[in-house]
This record gives sequence, structure tokens and C-alpha cells, in this order.
Amino acid sequence: MSPRTAFFAGAIVFALGAAGLAAALLHLQGGSQTATQASSVGGPFSLVDQDGQAVTEADMKGKPHLVFFGFTHCPDVCPTSLYEMTQALNALGADAEKTEAFFVTVDPARDTPEAMKAYLKSFSPRIRGLTGTQEQVDGMVKAYKVYARKQPLEGGDYTMDHTAVVYLMDRNGNFVAPLNLKRSPEEVAAEIRRYI
Ligand code: NI
Repeated sequence: MSPRTAFFAGAIVFALGAAGLAAALLHLQGGSQTATQASSVGGPFSLVDQDGQAVTEADMKGKPHLVFFGFTHCPDVCPTSLYEMTQALNALGADAEKTEAFFVTVDPARDTPEAMKAYLKSFSPRIRGLTGTQEQVDGMVKAYKVYARKQPLEGGDYTMDHTAVVYLMDRNGNFVAPLNLKRSPEEVAAEIRRYI
């Protein structure tokens, strides 16, 4: 495309981004009178864990928590991140009890509670797997500003492109920062411990 076309394409993307942000802010302002610190990431959701127990945003409050979106058929990024989260939770020792960690599927069609339970056996028992109907999952994906899209594979199979950020949330459910797992488990644990 020409530089001029590229400029306009960029402007349109920028405008869409600004509109999305404005919509998000409006939603927050209209959503809750008590949300004095409007965070642009996080919010209400209703899902079930790998044991079929209902989980909402209320279950996440009171402890700092990690929220990671992915899917059990993921070939590399998800298992790597879940392994690194497991190491960090192990490095927390007894303090791990004062935190929560969630693995939220972006592929609820395949990731039933049973599938999540079997998959998470390879990782820390502290990590709870969350799933639900497509609509419920879409709601949480939207609240956390996660990108998730189905990509068809040959033979009718599919994979999911998705945001691979681990969200570090404080005890009030406010987003702190993306958690950098590419360092020693002790360093990751030390950062999480600051919010206990
Ligand atoms: Ni993945």
C-alpha cells in the first residue's frame, strides 16, 4: 500500500482503539458505583472451575492473584507459562496459600471442566482452571482485554491465537502489571509476595 493509504489505515486502527477505550471507560463508570479505582483490566465474570464449582470475580478478591488465558491443546506457550507459574508458586512456599492462580480457557468447546482437570494435573495444584459457556468465556476475555481467535488447521482441526500475558492482580482485583515469568522462580515469587 502507498504511504498515504498506510497512514489512513493507521488512523482508522487508532480511532477504533480510542473508541474501544472510551467504550470500556463508559462501561466501568456505568457498571459500579463502588469502583473508585477503575481498572481497565478485569471485572465481573461467572465461570466454573475444573471441579464444576462456580467462580466469580468475588472469589478472586482478598488475595493477590495471577490470571492467565490459554487452552489445553496449546502446543507450547500455555504449557511453558503454566510450568513457570508452577515454579513460582513452589518458590512461594507457604505463602502460596495467600495467593490464587487461574488458568482461563479461551477454548471452552474442548476445555470442559473434566479436560481442564486432567490437563492441570501436570501443574501446581494451586492453579484453578476456569471454563464455561462460550458466552461466559467471551465475557471474561473481553473484561481482561484478551485477544483470542480460532485459527483453522488442515483436516478440520483448529488452534487458538491468544494473548499470553499473565495478569498480576492485587487483592482488590485491580490489575498491577503483566507478570514477567522469564526470570528465576524466586524473583517471580518475590514480586508476587509484595502484594500479599
Ligand atoms: Ni497457548
